[in-house]
Amino acid sequence: MAQLGVNIDHVATVRQARRTYEPDPVWAAALAELGGADGITLHLREDRRHIQDRDLRLLRETVTVKLNLEMACAEPVCRIALEVKPDQVTLVPENRQEVTTEGGLDLTTCRDRAAETIRKLKEAGIVVSLFLDPDEGQIALGKELGADAVELHTGCYALAKVGKARDAELVKLTKAGKVIVAAGLTLHAGHGLNYQNARAVADIPHMSELNIGHSIVARAIMVGFQTAVREMRDLIA
Ligand code: PXP
Repeated sequence: MAQLGVNIDHVATVRQARRTYEPDPVWAAALAELGGADGITLHLREDRRHIQDRDLRLLRETVTVKLNLEMACAEPVCRIALEVKPDQVTLVPENRQEVTTEGGLDLTTCRDRAAETIRKLKEAGIVVSLFLDPDEGQIALGKELGADAVELHTGCYALAKVGKARDAELVKLTKAGKVIVAAGLTLHAGHGLNYQNARAVADIPHMSELNIGHSIVARAIMVGFQTAVREMRDLIA
């Protein structure tokens, strides 16, 4: 059964809109746990547009489920990860202009930086997942560089029109999932998943973890955080 990692970045986005102290992502993480979250995910971006260093440090002390830190392959944030020691790091590409992460890592262009980052994190006992497009070459390279898991980027699936186009994207994800599992890596997925499209991805054989943020935070505004997480947990179970 796929586990649910609740991404709380957009709780911090609302806070940063006013540079104030509320809503606090630390509170949201506690409510997510009460709603059945298996993990809490956060992205410490270089530009600190939502999650702040203080959030990561407090969450490390308060979260009792898996703490998954998304970050770029960059020295300053890697130093913070090695200090705070999340349970898992998911390496993602980062571009200052983007509204959200726009695609998987391209390991062919950042191979050396990725290899160095993976090595340091693994030496510190941190599980390393790579956010990749459903591309066999990238998955093979991820394996070669020593990753433990691959999080498949589901953005194209989420954006595809319901019907043939979406079905084709699901086939791509399923095939890539097989390659990931055959390589001995753990299979994760995320990006753009919501209450309409997450179930089919959760049903991909050997799916171990889904990371979902925006749709849960959006629903939480209407029904409350704990309820929004519980509804998603029940849906993908
Ligand atoms: N997984 C990764 C690697 C991401 O970068 C993000 C967005 O921060 C998510 C999952 C969650 O995406 P969404 O907010 O669209 O659910």
